[in-house]
Amino acid sequence: MRLSVIGCGYLGAVHAAAMASIGHEVVGIDVDTHKIDALSRGEAPFFEPGLQQILTEGITSGRLRFSTDTADAAGATVHFIGVGTPQQAGGYGADLTYVDAAVSALLPHLRSGDIVAGKSTVPVGTAARLAELVAPTGATLVWNPEFLREGWAVQDTIDPDRLVAGVPAGERGEHAAGILREVYHPAVAKGTPFIVTDYATAELVKVAANAFLATKISFINAMAEIAEVTGADVTQLADAIGHDARIGRRFLGAGIGFGGGCLPKDIRAFAARAEELGRGESVNFLREVDAINLRRRERAVQLVVDGLGGTVYGKRIAVLGAAFKPHSDDVRDSPALDAAVRLHGLGADVVVTDPQAIENARRFHPQLTYIAERDEALRDAHAVLVVTEWDEYRRELDASHVSSLTSGRVVVDGRNCLDAVAWRAAGWTYYGMGRP
Ligand code: UGA
Repeated sequence: MRLSVIGCGYLGAVHAAAMASIGHEVVGIDVDTHKIDALSRGEAPFFEPGLQQILTEGITSGRLRFSTDTADAAGATVHFIGVGTPQQAGGYGADLTYVDAAVSALLPHLRSGDIVAGKSTVPVGTAARLAELVAPTGATLVWNPEFLREGWAVQDTIDPDRLVAGVPAGERGEHAAGILREVYHPAVAKGTPFIVTDYATAELVKVAANAFLATKISFINAMAEIAEVTGADVTQLADAIGHDARIGRRFLGAGIGFGGGCLPKDIRAFAARAEELGRGESVNFLREVDAINLRRRERAVQLVVDGLGGTVYGKRIAVLGAAFKPHSDDVRDSPALDAAVRLHGLGADVVVTDPQAIENARRFHPQLTYIAERDEALRDAHAVLVVTEWDEYRRELDASHVSSLTSGRVVVDGRNCLDAVAWRAAGWTYYGMGRP
């Protein structure tokens, strides 16, 4: 099938390459010339495991190409909208500028019978509004939210755990859902749940899922706060409650909290939209989820300050991690970088290292010192703060080896990913998050 993908960021570029990898003929479109040039040369513009390979294969096979001209979308049967919906500059709502611009640019190139499939995360009600814009062209709008996780984006796109299609009522909707089934044929063939619903439900499925995940993380971080004043260990607590299948252990990782381009802005946009709908109180708890999450960043910084005897001024601190999570170079709303910036603000000599995210981090925070090589970053540090649980900073990090590099023996484990017993045995003062 011929497909177009408007927007070639973390979502769109992966979607375009993944669709080509399952046999479609795809054109990816973005207004960013720099990004399109890189993609056209077969270079992934960001780090995402597996992307480079399917990008190269797609371009070599001739099934995948990129363009800055929306007119090149003409002739495709399905047009995916995968542009960003960041937090508004002056508020908590989602900024729909890019979605609106993408749809407007696409309108003159739509033919009757085409499908416009929205993938971006939008406030409920957006699809119904966009459907009215699309209707005069004879094309049909569907809402097909994306659930990919950065770091696993290729796998999540090709082999998702569910597919959701919000469609208009009647035959038109059934026809559109049928076309989406063809698009996602490998997943559909293996029996992946395919939920056909209305626009509002499809939009809400996405924000509800992210709100639930954020709540789960903040729940365990709230327990960490209680553990901190009682001497309990939140990791053991999470293991114990996680054995209950109704609760489950995943996303009960207490630590410095969630960040990234999705969970923080999505819960805020959800709360803002609920307020507009007169149901603010229904999701008031999301403000608490947000507040708990942000308190953990302060807590991690405070542990470093306490560990160094009350001040970090003039002290060298090695911050291991800049990305908001491992297997990603994304630093949007990264708790890791936030902690590094706060320590810098307190007068510390902060050295940040990360296997993938240094370039992005430097662009946002040029005031910090970056050293790519882990051991060099650790050299002469008075304290070590682990904030992104890359394998290099957990399993492969040997406490005795680190002792041979640093001048201090204070380690703050912002992701509860180190073996506290081994670090203490090597002479370190170990601080976890919500652990004694
Ligand atoms: C999230 C959702 O997991 C995806 O399902 C969704 O499609 C995506 O947002 C999106 O809206 O596009 P992502 O932002 O890639 O995916 O990352 P997550 O794996 O959800 O992690 C988010 C943050 O939570 C990270 O900072 C991570 O370190 C943190 N986290 C995760 C915890 O602090 N504890 C945990 O137990 C799990």
